[in-house]
Amino acid sequence: MVEPFCNEPFTDFSQSGNREAFAAALKKVQAQLGQEYGLLIGGEKLMTARKAVSVNPADPTQVIGTVSQADTALADRAIRAAARAFTFWKSVPPAGRARLLYKIAAILRRRKAEFSAWMVVEAGKSWAEADADTAEAIDFLEFYGRETERLAQRQPLTRIPGEDNELTYIPLGVGVIIPPWNFPLAIMAGLTSAAVAAGNTVVLKPASATPVVAAKFMELLQLAGLPDGVVNFLPGSGQEVGDYLVEHPLTRFISFTGSREVGLRINELAAKTAPGQRWIKRVVAEMGGKDAIIVDSDSDLELAAEAITASAFGFAGQKCSACSRAIVHESVYDDVLRRVAERVSRLRVGDPSDPEIDVGPVIDAKAHLKILEYLEIGSTEGRVVCGGGAGDAKGYYIEPTVIADVDVKARIAQEEIFGPVVAFIKAASFDQALELANDSEYGLTGAVISRNRAHLEKARTEFHVGNLYFNRKCTGALVGVHPFGGFNMSGTDSKAGGRDYLLQFTQAKVVSERF
Ligand code: NAD
Ligand code: ALA
Repeated sequence: MVEPFCNEPFTDFSQSGNREAFAAALKKVQAQLGQEYGLLIGGEKLMTARKAVSVNPADPTQVIGTVSQADTALADRAIRAAARAFTFWKSVPPAGRARLLYKIAAILRRRKAEFSAWMVVEAGKSWAEADADTAEAIDFLEFYGRETERLAQRQPLTRIPGEDNELTYIPLGVGVIIPPWNFPLAIMAGLTSAAVAAGNTVVLKPASATPVVAAKFMELLQLAGLPDGVVNFLPGSGQEVGDYLVEHPLTRFISFTGSREVGLRINELAAKTAPGQRWIKRVVAEMGGKDAIIVDSDSDLELAAEAITASAFGFAGQKCSACSRAIVHESVYDDVLRRVAERVSRLRVGDPSDPEIDVGPVIDAKAHLKILEYLEIGSTEGRVVCGGGAGDAKGYYIEPTVIADVDVKARIAQEEIFGPVVAFIKAASFDQALELANDSEYGLTGAVISRNRAHLEKARTEFHVGNLYFNRKCTGALVGVHPFGGFNMSGTDSKAGGRDYLLQFTQAKVVSERF
């Protein structure tokens, strides 16, 4: 019997010992930069002629690693290796699969600072954001291990005389795992471990911007003794290899987290039946957000400013859960805007290998350009109160930006920018604020800052998002505490880190015996 799940604590960087340990981990990681990483198919490590170079977004001249790239022939080999491994992995008892997850979690816990340090250099995460990412990865491993054990218990059914009925959850088969770069460890490890815990085997195509963190995780799986072929590592182009994996007739399910555009494409491709395919492919797709924090007339305005600033600028706004719309009651609008602007002016932007930094770079040149284009658009759609331009040209920096007096239909109020930009929208009443918040194709997170009980209760039922928070920020969901997933174009609402999650990677079988 394992102990009940509890969340991995975050590291307290106000303690000098923890700061020193992290600085040492960063140094160790920096000494390992520039290495080559290969594919792993059926336990065989493969180097290919085609390589991708992963760089530090705070200094793109710094190479984090060089990663071999798969083509479609290797993608086919990976799917077939996963299909072969499924023949034995599906029969490993759930307790055995869970034990492996706990072991991976234990090793990761021991090497927490090192994994976080890789995210500082490859994804541009601040120390605290990187630490939270590693803690979440540990949580997913611990949580899904327990979940597979729970699902293996006898399931409740209505009993009838003279018949023995049993329901068991069995795995689906070969899955394709496609994670995003913005939680390079947590989401990648969470998607992979959930599928594997449920008895499936997978092909993991890591995000193109953060393949080294994923390669390090693969080393961990091997160290923990995960059998060959259960997780096959296949870095490669999303379009070329991704499409091929999704369309493959042996693919049984796709577990994706990323943009709405790619998620919808995967959903469409997966719906087509390939020759020789024997099932309807299952798609779990968690996608983007255009998340709003509503500030009511009767509310703690300091708390409101703190919640907006943390949610909009944590990890430079590169979270699906980030607050990109602040919808503020007109009676407190100027006050909240002023308080947020003051806080934003104190944010330190720079290379996150420095522990004092609050906001690092955005992920790559493409994102940098896209956000700058949105800043141009934003300058015509509202009043730029803070920021509005690029930062230090050494890295992919963007100034934390606040744009006031934005119309709810403006592009910067409707489209996911995925950068450190928040639009302020004025509401004449709480009811109108709710209407404005729901005026989005997305429906991922939201928050309400209010002292008015009736308003909070109204928001509880009418604010249409998968994760709604009251009197706090709208980022930072914890595994087991805040099962996470969105409505509408934010995805299939799979609720990662929740008790419904693992079921999506299983099918229920009922056996009825008369006696
Ligand atoms: P993305 O959609 O560009 O890429 C996600 C993954 O899909 C990557 O691994 C990429 O290589 C792959 N890919 C690209 N084209 C593909 C194709 N044709 N077929 C198969 N795979 C393909 O997203 P991103 O930039 O990595 O991540 C940012 C996005 O992810 C944002 O929209 C963000 O809101 C979203 N996100 C959502 C959640 C959530 O839980 N809802 C969590 C994190 C990020
Ligand atoms: N799960 C992450 C959060 O809540 C995206 O911020």
